[in-house]
Amino acid sequence: MTELITPAAARRRSLPTAPFLVAARGGVPDRVPVWFMRQAGRSLPEYRALRAGTAMLAACFDPAMVTEVTLQPVRRHGVDAAILFSDIVVPLVAAGVDLDIVPGTGPVVAAPVRDAKAVAALPRLHAHQVDAVADAVRLLTVELGRTPLIGFAGAPFTLASYLVEGGPSRNHERTKALMYGDPVTWHALLDNLADTALEFLRAQIAAGVDAVQLFDSWAGALSLRDYREFVLPHSTKVLSGLADAGIPRVHFGVGTGHLLGAMREAGADVVGVDWRTPLDVAARAVPGAAVQGNLDPAALFAGDDVLRREVTRIVAEGRSAAGHVFNLGHGVLPDTDPDVITRTVAFAHSLSTQR
Ligand code: CP3
Repeated sequence: MTELITPAAARRRSLPTAPFLVAARGGVPDRVPVWFMRQAGRSLPEYRALRAGTAMLAACFDPAMVTEVTLQPVRRHGVDAAILFSDIVVPLVAAGVDLDIVPGTGPVVAAPVRDAKAVAALPRLHAHQVDAVADAVRLLTVELGRTPLIGFAGAPFTLASYLVEGGPSRNHERTKALMYGDPVTWHALLDNLADTALEFLRAQIAAGVDAVQLFDSWAGALSLRDYREFVLPHSTKVLSGLADAGIPRVHFGVGTGHLLGAMREAGADVVGVDWRTPLDVAARAVPGAAVQGNLDPAALFAGDDVLRREVTRIVAEGRSAAGHVFNLGHGVLPDTDPDVITRTVAFAHSLSTQR
């Protein structure tokens, strides 16, 4: 009998002993798996050299450049996973939203989305619009050998915040005004963004990524009650919609200590934790899930003694979870010394994974 192999399954490498995937599935790997959010980017001189003269969004649609930037931190630091070089706004741009990534500022939207008419006019992503990203994933799965590749998308709330505010925001006041003031339009907006995130992640999975991370970076701005009412159903649509892919799903936000249980419920196998919540506390909030985090990105500026103490503490606290992936509590800061990152990886690898 001929075995039925889906195109996605045929393309994905089998990496049964990769420490990142073992820990993400709740097992004990043979070394502490380490990667860093924003490991590809401005902390690396080779990144700055390659990017010189190319705008961020242009880089994200250039498969050869995406491949090279994604590989740079893997080569330099020996991390246990690569994260696709892209941005959470890439699927919006691909779908036709007029938006740019302004150096030093972040995403800026030409016409902010603030009412029912604008929401109704918002396009949804079709997979072929991110063919360049899928091409990069296919190149990367060859180049990476045994190192897993993490795909990602922005979660509906965090994407909505950029679209409604028009750019980065401290207080998310316009976003919350729409959420509280016009819940029908709000839910229509988040439903649209959930479809786009799901389509973007499915395209990456079909091309061969080994895990996905849903970034709800700014969800911590909400109370648990509001998160459950206004956000959870939509993030659930994304994560639960990927259950059939059979690859680990990571769900991350900043300042989300009070939301960890709900973020797990959305359909996460691994819950990302910032530096505010110790991993043993986080583990109790998400029984059965693996945890990922929680080194303060600023600790990389504090010297090797502090770093060794913090890494040792985090690995010890992580042992109480079903699985632990070592990471920062948020992204690498641009001024971080790359050699400190390399030494942090080596030190985490020197520690035992035994419980
Ligand atoms: O982690 C990685 O190494 C992969 C690359 C990656 C980028 N953005 C590259 C990038 C990832 C995973 C992201 C996700 C992303 N983008 C998030 C979620 C993660 C988080 O930090 O909470 C968010 C909120 C964005 C939106 C965004 N894009 C912001 C806030 C900024 C920063 C503005 C700035 O300059 O500080 C960007 C731009 C961006 N995304 C850069 C990079 C390397 C800088 C652009 C440049 O190098 O010119």
